[in-house]
Amino acid sequence: MTTEILWRMPGKMTQLEQRSLESLVEEVADEFVPPLTTRSSTTQAVLASASGSASSSYFDELLMQHCLLLIECDQLQGFLSFRTFHRDNRLPQIGICIYVSTISVRPAARGRGLARLLYQKLLGLPEALPTWILLRTRSTSTHHLQLLDTLGFKHLLTVPNDRDPRADSIYLGRKR
Ligand SMILES: CC(C)(COP(=O)(O)OP(=O)(O)OC[C@H]1O[C@@H](n2cnc3c(N)ncnc32)[C@H](O)[C@@H]1OP(=O)(O)O)[C@@H](O)C(=O)NCCC(=O)NCCS
Repeated sequence: MTTEILWRMPGKMTQLEQRSLESLVEEVADEFVPPLTTRSSTTQAVLASASGSASSSYFDELLMQHCLLLIECDQLQGFLSFRTFHRDNRLPQIGICIYVSTISVRPAARGRGLARLLYQKLLGLPEALPTWILLRTRSTSTHHLQLLDTLGFKHLLTVPNDRDPRADSIYLGRKR
């Protein structure tokens, strides 16, 4: 099986790639809290009104970020979106960093190491980009947290009950 990861700069996805990404985002949207279809931005932490087309504003913002597209046999199976030169005021010790805004793998393709491949690609991006990588995930995302631990990400901050009364937000990071 041929697997490749394409790095698309903001606004540089082809129409076909955009359509494939939109379909994948809609497939996994409800696994996120709040669902991607109700978010108005990739950093928003509270539910927005769900007016307009499904996930349109979230998706429009995704297109303006860097994106790694994982393709297997011409099918988009996963993606990782990120901002370069991000700064988080709660973590001044990190300084300017790469911020992973979303990672997801198509449900039928999970458990085969594809998310690991996406992170490995991110870790190997050119040195001109910031050294630190920062991301946020939920305390209940056990598979994701386990993966990040094996990749060397360290806990930086916990925000209790941040997006959901039953789950904390966990910020993790590592240097490339
Ligand atoms: C989190 C997510 C991206 C992982 O994708 P994936 O391709 O299945 O992950 P991988 O196959 O690379 O697995 C990585 C590790 O996770 C763990 N893992 C993944 N799936 C697992 C499963 N079904 N059972 C047990 N462990 C599992 C393993 O530790 C695995 O490590 P290994 O390579 O040593 O076996 C995917 O589950 C997903 O898209 N979830 C919904 C969106 C989400 O939660 N995103 C993260 C929050 S932003």
